[in-house]
Amino acid sequence: MNQDEMKKAVAHAALEFVPTGSIIGVGTGSTANFFIDELATIKSRIDGAVASSVATAERLKRHGIPVLDLNDVSGLGLYVDGADEATVHRALVKGGGGALTREKIVAAASKTFVCICDESKLVDVLGRFPLPVEVIPMARSFVAREIVAFGGRPELRKGFKTDNGNEILDIHGLTITDPVGLEERLNHITGVVTNGLFARRGADILLLGTRQGVRRIPA
Ligand code: A5P
Repeated sequence: MNQDEMKKAVAHAALEFVPTGSIIGVGTGSTANFFIDELATIKSRIDGAVASSVATAERLKRHGIPVLDLNDVSGLGLYVDGADEATVHRALVKGGGGALTREKIVAAASKTFVCICDESKLVDVLGRFPLPVEVIPMARSFVAREIVAFGGRPELRKGFKTDNGNEILDIHGLTITDPVGLEERLNHITGVVTNGLFARRGADILLLGTRQGVRRIPA
């Protein structure tokens, strides 16, 4: 199995969590795209989806899946999304595609978060993947200095604007031994919209694509 086949396998496995007659929260990225394609095969069984990005909304619409505004739904039963890094404790780094804030909002509004990724994303300690932080543009330099003060190396994602019109600082050089603490600390810097650590509200279920098949954590 190559990496795309593993992504496709976990995307397919996530379908078992989709309740009939429900509205699904849908993430962003290449693995989430495989999930959207799988969701299209059962679209008559769902009422629609809430998208975590403009790109995801467009892909859902291309498949004829109704896209709803989060403000128009009272809550979501399920959110399915990928990750850039994941631990067996289901803490995640997300935001490689820059959609972290909307992803975090949709995850927060969902009862169950099923994270789907291939085995290359599983790590013992988060931080090798640069941690994305969405910032209000006027606060960029201030936030960067605050991050440097506690030992991170922020780099501006050049030429990139989020769907919310903000900028991303990618923090290099972190060894994240306390994901919950760092998530809170970063979010307390004025000017930060949110950061890509999903630890306070991590995934409830991690479906990991491996060469031997789909591994479910917890089993
Ligand atoms: C998007 O902002 C990210 O959080 C993605 O969910 C994450 O980067 C995983 O993407 P891939 O499935 O493309 O690796």
